[in-house]
Amino acid sequence: MKLWGGRFEKATDHMVDDFHSSIPFDRRLYKYDIEGSIAHATMLGERGIIPEDDAKAIVAGLRGILADLESKALAFDPDCEDIHMFVEEVLTLRIGEAGKRLHTGRSRNDQVALDTHMFVKAACLETQGLIRDLLKTIVEIAENNLETIMPGYTHLQKAQPVTLAHHMMAWAQMLLRDMDRLGDCYKRADVMPLGAGALAGTTYDMDRERVAQLLGFSRVSENSMDSVSDRDYVLDYLAAAAISMTHLSRFCEELILWSTDEFHFARMDDAFSTGSSIMPQKKNPDVAELIRGKSGRVTGDLMALLTTMKGIPLAYDKDMQEDKEALFDAHDTWTKCLIVFDGMMKTITFDARAMAQGAEGGYTNATDLADYLVGKGMPFRQAHEVSGKMVLDCVKRSRPLKDMSLDEMKAFCDIIEKDVYDAIDVHSCVARRKVKGAPAPEAVAACIDSVKAQIS
Ligand code: ARG
Repeated sequence: MKLWGGRFEKATDHMVDDFHSSIPFDRRLYKYDIEGSIAHATMLGERGIIPEDDAKAIVAGLRGILADLESKALAFDPDCEDIHMFVEEVLTLRIGEAGKRLHTGRSRNDQVALDTHMFVKAACLETQGLIRDLLKTIVEIAENNLETIMPGYTHLQKAQPVTLAHHMMAWAQMLLRDMDRLGDCYKRADVMPLGAGALAGTTYDMDRERVAQLLGFSRVSENSMDSVSDRDYVLDYLAAAAISMTHLSRFCEELILWSTDEFHFARMDDAFSTGSSIMPQKKNPDVAELIRGKSGRVTGDLMALLTTMKGIPLAYDKDMQEDKEALFDAHDTWTKCLIVFDGMMKTITFDARAMAQGAEGGYTNATDLADYLVGKGMPFRQAHEVSGKMVLDCVKRSRPLKDMSLDEMKAFCDIIEKDVYDAIDVHSCVARRKVKGAPAPEAVAACIDSVKAQIS
């Protein structure tokens, strides 16, 4: 039976029923749909818009439906158009006439907006929790590796020495911004749209603030047309998901590189690696590769909804039903990736020797040599030139800067003294980078304290 059937003389073509039905995916909004209806009916009863007894019967009926769906005593009817129709139909079947009063002053347009706002709000908090868990794991690795020297790269060429802790805390900053973006998203989702009706509000004397209060929203929407046509809060969540997945993808790319025989900086745990069906020696970082791959899919979800939204006029259009699969897919993919990435990071091991060796090569101390000359009074541009010439000489002789004798060094620049060897030691290169945000252990420890305070 169609709840909107009055105006129609013909049944919907079965192809159309199948085509426009959203219950296969919007069923997962059932909890929010029912909670929203309970708040709506409560307010209608309190305001005398529907009889108090009917409101009570509706609320009790809805509570029963919620309990039966949770316990699986009640199954979703795949023939229903959407979750909203399903709940209303079951309610009326169960409580009779009173059920027909539930939809007073409401449209599915503001109803679906309400459900989606509630889903996004919950999703923001849930995802923030997962990122917080991952941050704790990463901070722990950093705390244990304040002195673990490794090469820092630009252009994937060795650049300057850093520490594993510093590298991990760079990731932490990215994840903190992901949490922050979710906080912004939450604020914009925290607006209660019910009362907007189909698009032009309602003639009933509704108390929208009361509904917002019952559902834990901090404010009500300000324009009925915008309320039913706004999907910015879904786009916000998808954008936050796409950016965060891009971060996870970059982390994974690094871990994949670090696990190669060539780098040898990291070793994935057996439990987070897979083998080859033909090459017996293989241990592949499939988990990291799959997370990197799934970032493309979540970006796709964002692109899909942006493209859907860009051409639709105010107010509600059925195109917007397309928001949910993208939203659920991004939420589920992001959730899974955060959980499995955390597991991977909890079990990964690092090869401090290979990292230190890596930092010794590639002339990562050449800037420090230039800075040393600046300390002796030489202008930086000139110091850069001298250090570059010394590096070129060492490259030709295949040896590190520290293997040059003092006389050989003096031949390039006579202000160089014995203290140069300490200045170009990679440990002292790191230790002297004490400025806020730099890799010296005490600077990274301060960064760790700040991050811990933000996630506690
Ligand atoms: N299933 C619809 C959606 O997800 C609910 C709103 C339908 N409204 C309408 N006027 N057809 O968007």
